[in-house]
Amino acid sequence: MRAGRLRTLDQLGDVAGTRVFLRVDFNVPLTDGSVADDSRIVAAIPTIDELRERRAALVLASHLGRPKGVPWDDLRTRVLADALTERLAGRASVLALGMPGHTETIDAVGRLGPGDVAMLENLRFDPGEEANDPRFAGRLAELADAYVNDAFGAAHRAHASVEVLPELMLASGRPAVAGRLLQKEVEVLGRLLHGPERPYVAVLGGAKVSDKLSVIDALIHRVDHVVIGGAMAFTLLAAEGASVGRSKVEDDRVEDVRGIRRTAEAEGVRIGLPIDVVAAAEPSLDVARMTVPAREIPDDLMGLDIGPATVEAFARVIADAKTVLWNGPMGVFELEPFSEGTRGIALAIASANAYSVVGGGDSIAAVRQAGLEGSFDHLSTGGGASLEFLEGRPLPGVTILED
Ligand code: 3PG
Repeated sequence: MRAGRLRTLDQLGDVAGTRVFLRVDFNVPLTDGSVADDSRIVAAIPTIDELRERRAALVLASHLGRPKGVPWDDLRTRVLADALTERLAGRASVLALGMPGHTETIDAVGRLGPGDVAMLENLRFDPGEEANDPRFAGRLAELADAYVNDAFGAAHRAHASVEVLPELMLASGRPAVAGRLLQKEVEVLGRLLHGPERPYVAVLGGAKVSDKLSVIDALIHRVDHVVIGGAMAFTLLAAEGASVGRSKVEDDRVEDVRGIRRTAEAEGVRIGLPIDVVAAAEPSLDVARMTVPAREIPDDLMGLDIGPATVEAFARVIADAKTVLWNGPMGVFELEPFSEGTRGIALAIASANAYSVVGGGDSIAAVRQAGLEGSFDHLSTGGGASLEFLEGRPLPGVTILED
């Protein structure tokens, strides 16, 4: 699949004195009501600055969390508007708006002047957003003269502000284009999709193999080597008859992972699994832990991180790679005693002479924790979106912006 040409801010035309609807993905982690990591907000600033310099008034819109169509006080977007104001460092102060369709919102948007920035309330407070409802999209469309999508993280969702809204804008002769962040994500990840330098190694981790089955299935046809850590590795080990103690195994997925093995063999793709693991009775800070062979975990213990021999083996594979994609931690990295494996893999990728891309909130948090963000070629703002893109699946939010 080779995509059409993505329309970008370069094709937007003159927006001076007009209102631009800017879909962003500010779905950031919150701790005690404040933004715990504002990377996704920072990543949208080049587009915001460019549109302000081009004298547009901006109506920003994002989802936050999964409120399932009802207003939820903890998930109001005012906190995002404030965080953006802080990052704009005096260039603009972001006005927090209500829901689309409300008179106060329409009036406030009508008063915006060139360079002003306002942010709508959480799109997912209305069931129409996730239902891709044209009536909800119509209420968004009446707020703007042009549409820009910079929400790469949500581009895989066929939701109203992502798909049917740009459709409506285009149908009524108004432009709909990608912002600089969406453009960059598509360009960088496109490099992995179309002709990556080989060997191409995928490093996958995370809790559940069920979340990643379709990714592994698709990547198996594109990569040369997959190495798998995290709890999901135990389902693959168990499928091969290993004793994995009390480690998390998804029994209903054992047949699927056997199928993946068969495909990998047919394609000549190698799958690397843990050799040793750090095991304990439970994932907690002060529990006793021991390093044991991954296929002989004692019955009363569970594997919570990959062990040093595995880090070394995976690092050897990574050292030979020319392209590395990493998604998902190698263990319960948020607990210090089980963070070594993930850190070791982050270091191995950072020091490899390969084009390196990381996706997924947890892996990026691990990269930042290790202070290695400068050593990776690209930290994707999309978790699910980057994986679906790399599987070669068309993303609704991208397809609609292509010629
Ligand atoms: C993400 O955080 O991956 C995106 O914002 C999409 O969120 P969602 O999985 O709730 O649709």
